[in-house]
Amino acid sequence: MARVRIHGGNPLHGDVTVSGSKNASLPLLAAALLIEGQSIIENVPRIDDIDAMIHMLRSLGAKCEFIDSSALSIDAADIKSLSAPYDLVRKMRGSFYVAGALLGRFGEAEVPLPGGCVIGSRPVDFHLNGFKALGAVVQERHGVMRAQAEKLTGAHIYMDSRYRSVGATVNVMLAATLADGVTVIENASREPEVLCCQQFLEDAGADIRGIGTDILVIRGVEKLDGQRFRSIPDRMEAGTFLMATGAARGDVTVHSVEPRHMTTVLEVLRAAGLQVDVDTDSVRVRSEGRPRAFEVTTAPYPGFPTDLQPNASVLGAVAVGTTVIEETIFDARFNYVDELNRMGSDIQLKDSVAIIRGVPKLYGAPVEATDIRAGSALVIAGLAADGYTEISGAEFLARGYENLEGKLQGLGAVIESARNAEDDKARNAWNR
Ligand code: UD1
Repeated sequence: MARVRIHGGNPLHGDVTVSGSKNASLPLLAAALLIEGQSIIENVPRIDDIDAMIHMLRSLGAKCEFIDSSALSIDAADIKSLSAPYDLVRKMRGSFYVAGALLGRFGEAEVPLPGGCVIGSRPVDFHLNGFKALGAVVQERHGVMRAQAEKLTGAHIYMDSRYRSVGATVNVMLAATLADGVTVIENASREPEVLCCQQFLEDAGADIRGIGTDILVIRGVEKLDGQRFRSIPDRMEAGTFLMATGAARGDVTVHSVEPRHMTTVLEVLRAAGLQVDVDTDSVRVRSEGRPRAFEVTTAPYPGFPTDLQPNASVLGAVAVGTTVIEETIFDARFNYVDELNRMGSDIQLKDSVAIIRGVPKLYGAPVEATDIRAGSALVIAGLAADGYTEISGAEFLARGYENLEGKLQGLGAVIESARNAEDDKARNAWNR
């Protein structure tokens, strides 16, 4: 199991640049399958989830190669297989997006159903209902979804009212782009990552009205054309650096961000007493003392993102006063709390609400990450804590963050990856 070691207690200072968005790039890579030719997607992060998606596209017959550090060329002219390998879908739920793209272009897709997930039950019923509404015959057998249609036909689809599903909106939109007639998707997700995919499709020739709203009207077109397109910056990565500066203190400017995607996050940072200065594509945050307690409820965009909820808990953990955080999207997204409490935080859970009594100091401890965002929360806690923290399960960080250790080192953090589980030398040296 990969590990990360942090010697905490150093404020962060300097400048850091965020990479392209993971959650925007995954749909773009799947959307490239709709195009009988070459697409070039810029600003793709070099992370394990993108590698897994590239493997997926290659396994279907697409040619994928990075033509510079972050521009990925995808040529989907010769798709040879409409069946996605189980191992890749199991590793990464985002790869289920190939279902909508294959079904949309070829009228057929065979994709294993993604399994459970530590942050809560994550069914794909909205995705499958959307495919069925478009006229596909969808069967689930032995853990595999098989969808087939002579020709998909536009339909009026009302996404479940309890949630605005990011994944289902993308998948159904991909399937509908080349369908016959008009598809209306009501209660669509408005996340910037979904909008990014809509813009990619529109630039490629799709006819989509209501881009960025919760009602999409998609008039099917004959074909899409290859193009060069730039993915948006990763607002979750940006949020992680901002929260880390709030918890560990310091003065950090985060570059290559899209501040308008982060309004609610910046509001929370200000409510926590941090000084936040916003420029066109950068955000500077300054924190000298302990943050103030604050209240947050996660919600679909433009609400506070569930993916930054674990990071916000760490900010609350070292704040003056009692912070209250409510999670409304995933039913098990507080799975990191026991680990954080081992570092000295005082967090109690009441159903979907965390009551966080701020403490003056966290203390380093061995802890384990169980998902990407739990991992980055533990990194922030390690940076803010006195002493030495070792995080196992650090492979989750590599799934979602490009060079997190290197970027934090650039801000003065004492952090290193330790893929060799037996290497205790550094630990002993630091403990002296
Ligand atoms: C995406 C993001 C993830 C983020 C989440 C919410 C990617 C690769 N992942 O996940 O980082 O935390 O959005 O912003 O972009 N649901 C159903 N049935 C469905 C689909 C969803 O019940 O068919 C429920 C889920 O269990 C969850 C809620 O709807 O409770 C929202 O999930 P959804 O927006 O679909 O999340 P993902 O697309 O999986």
